[in-house]
Amino acid sequence: MSQQKRAYIETYGCQMNISDSELMYGILAEQGYTAADSAEEADVILVNTCAIRDHAEQRVIGRVGQLQQIRQSRPELLIGVTGCMAQRMGEDLLKHAGQVDLVMGPDAYRQLPEKLASLAPAPPKPSPRSSLPVMGAPKGGLTVLGFDPFENYEGITARRTSAVSAWVPIQRGCNYRCTYCIVPYVRGDEKNRDPEQILAEVRALAADGVPEVTLLGQTVNSYEHGDWSFPRLLREVARVDGIRRVRFTSPHPNDFTRDLVEVMAEEPTVCSQLHLPVQSGHNRTLKRMLRRYTVEQYLEKIEWVREAIPHIALSTDVIVAFPGETDEEYEATLDLMRTVRYDDAFMYKYSLRDGTPATRLPAEQFVPDEVGQARLERLIATHREIQAEIYRAEVGCVEEVLVEKTGRRGGLQGRTESNKVVTFEGPESLIGGFAEVRLVSTTGATFGGELVESAVAAEPVA
Ligand code: 5AD
Ligand code: SF4
Repeated sequence: MSQQKRAYIETYGCQMNISDSELMYGILAEQGYTAADSAEEADVILVNTCAIRDHAEQRVIGRVGQLQQIRQSRPELLIGVTGCMAQRMGEDLLKHAGQVDLVMGPDAYRQLPEKLASLAPAPPKPSPRSSLPVMGAPKGGLTVLGFDPFENYEGITARRTSAVSAWVPIQRGCNYRCTYCIVPYVRGDEKNRDPEQILAEVRALAADGVPEVTLLGQTVNSYEHGDWSFPRLLREVARVDGIRRVRFTSPHPNDFTRDLVEVMAEEPTVCSQLHLPVQSGHNRTLKRMLRRYTVEQYLEKIEWVREAIPHIALSTDVIVAFPGETDEEYEATLDLMRTVRYDDAFMYKYSLRDGTPATRLPAEQFVPDEVGQARLERLIATHREIQAEIYRAEVGCVEEVLVEKTGRRGGLQGRTESNKVVTFEGPESLIGGFAEVRLVSTTGATFGGELVESAVAAEPVA
């Protein structure tokens, strides 16, 4: 390449997408690309998208329309759309999202440099109306959408955005078929990475001084490779020299076993935190979602983990207004939230995803939007109240905080072992290390803290 090209990747959606963007930067770097600091300075802009809810897709359509303005000063700019929405919409994206040069699904990223090189520089296009998304006929972009049952991006060195905490994908795709969910259709069936490759990656991270890793997979605890199970892999990762904190997300309740609880309780580097998506607090809804567990089974697993690790912080995902959800079923979800008392929760109103089984439910079962919105708001309020009580009770405690970065409003920001965000004043030299911090205030969802001067441990202790 005569002159180094600059790439800019904008990421939407989950941690898996953040991790995929790091892989894409790695793939492009191997071919001489550098990372641009902003979209305006890039030769190639990739928008790595999410398809989980309609709202996420609408944001991307708007953003791709906005990015067209940059073409006016950079006529050779290439704009690509990657990820789950690219896979879901394919050619249709070329009609609905302004001028797109490349549409690429999650299994094709190795081909990025080659496909970008094959695209002739796009001619400048007069923008008809400011930043509004341009609608119209397909403009001849390239689509690369094949599934590859063997693509795990083995051998690619990700270009990581944090030197403190690393995402480590161990699994791609999903074998469950929850009836609301688009993921299996855009990411394909479950594929698990070779455990030796995963361990080699974690050892390399530790050697680079990265103290925290988060193992990623759509149903991370269903991981299986030869005679390796998820608990076995977790234990090995937890014992890598230099790794101080291990997290994993997201486990499926159905694959959550006593063996896993044992590893979590026994390995000191596995953080006392668990994100266990419940989705609904009523068995009829769970069944119609095809979640494959009952409320009773879910609660039993919460009990196992609380018994083994009494201070564990719990979080979850919940969907309200799934088609056919009655008031009574919704109330059962509120009850479950009051029973478990989650430290954190991600709550959503059901969003219809074309091609998923739930779309075939009778039209009269679909919950009116105002009802769904009211259910969501009440659920959020209920959870926030519980969360604030939990947080207030922790004010006064001293926690070991892994310092990640400077905070948005100055000071430092980091997370406790239970994954709670703390901001506090201190020297920037602490970033990347651990500090003892007293929690002195709370917003109800984050903490303000004070450094306990005498106990600062900036150097990771192996
Ligand atoms: N509508 C609303 N929420 C959804 N999720 C997945 N699919 C949908 C949908 N169609 C939520 C689930 C999942 C989280 C990542 O997103 O709660 O756990
Ligand atoms: Fe979607 Fe269910 Fe798979 Fe999670 S387990 S990615 S919700 S299909």
